[in-house]
Amino acid sequence: MQVLDGKKTSEDIKKEIAIEVQQMKENGEKVPHLAAVIVGNDGASLTYVGSKVRSCQQIGFDSTLVSLPETITEDELLAKIKELNEDDNLDGFIVQLPLPKHINEEKILLAIDPDKDVDGFHPTNFGKMALDMETFIPATPFGIMQLLKRYNVDTVGKHTVVIGRSHIVGRPMSILMSRKGNPGDSTVTLTHSRTKNIEEFTKNADIIITALGVPNYLKADMVKDGVVVIDVGITRVADASHPKGYVITGDVDFDGVSKKSSFITPVPGGVGPMTIAMLLQNTLLARKMRMK
Ligand code: GUN
Repeated sequence: MQVLDGKKTSEDIKKEIAIEVQQMKENGEKVPHLAAVIVGNDGASLTYVGSKVRSCQQIGFDSTLVSLPETITEDELLAKIKELNEDDNLDGFIVQLPLPKHINEEKILLAIDPDKDVDGFHPTNFGKMALDMETFIPATPFGIMQLLKRYNVDTVGKHTVVIGRSHIVGRPMSILMSRKGNPGDSTVTLTHSRTKNIEEFTKNADIIITALGVPNYLKADMVKDGVVVIDVGITRVADASHPKGYVITGDVDFDGVSKKSSFITPVPGGVGPMTIAMLLQNTLLARKMRMK
C-alpha cells in the first residue's frame, strides 16, 4: 500500500509555480493576482479562504481578500463581481461556496467572467472541460488528476466508481476520468444518493473516488484487494480531546480500507492541500492567457 501524499505533492507544485513567478518578476512581467470573495463568517469557509490567500503570498502571487457581510444583498454581490470582472489588475477570482441562502448561487457563478473563473465553475469552462478544450479545471478534481499522474497510478481501462454527483467534485471527476489519456481512459460509474446497492459497484471498482461527506462511510468489506482509493471527504467531527474541539474526518475508514488498497489518500493531507495548489495553477494559467 502506498499513501498518496497530497501535502508533499502540493508543496512540490507550489515550488514549481514559485519558480515560474520568480522568472516572471525577473523578466519585469506582472505576477499573477488572485482575489477570493467570502460572504459571512462560516468557520470552515474562513479557514479555506485564509489558506488560499496565504498560499498566494507564499509563492509570490498578489492576492486580495474580499470579506463581505452575511447580510449583503444579491444585487450588491453582483455589483462586486462586476467590479472584479472589470479590474484589469486582477487575473482571476473565486467566490467561496456555499453562499447564504438568500443568494442564488447559480446567478452569482454565471456573473463571473469565464476568463477569470479560476474555479472552473462557469458553464463555459465546464463545457470546455467536457470537450477537452484548454480551460480552468475545478481545483479538487484537477488535484486528484495530478496525484494520480505524479504517482503513476494506471487508470487506463480501469473501472472507476465515483461516489457523489456534486458540481464541484463528483460530476467533473466522472468526466475527467472518462476523457482520453492517462490519467483518464477509465470506464466510469457515477453513483449518488439514489443509487441502489452501492457496494455492488464499489466491490467491483479498481478506483474509488468518494465525495460524500459521510465520515468513515467506505469500509473494508465494500472494496476489493488492490483498489485505489481517493477520499475527498472533509467533515468536522466533534472531538473534545483535540485542541480545536474537532477532527477532520474523511469518507473512508482508513485503517480498514488501507489494508486492501494499492494506493490511498489520507485525510487530512491528501486531496485537501492539492485543491489549493491547483487553484494557484489555474491562476497562473489565467495570467498567461491574459498576457497572450
Ligand atoms: N467550497 C468548497 N470547495 C470550493 C471550491 O473549490 N471553490 C469555491 N469557490 N468554493 C468552495
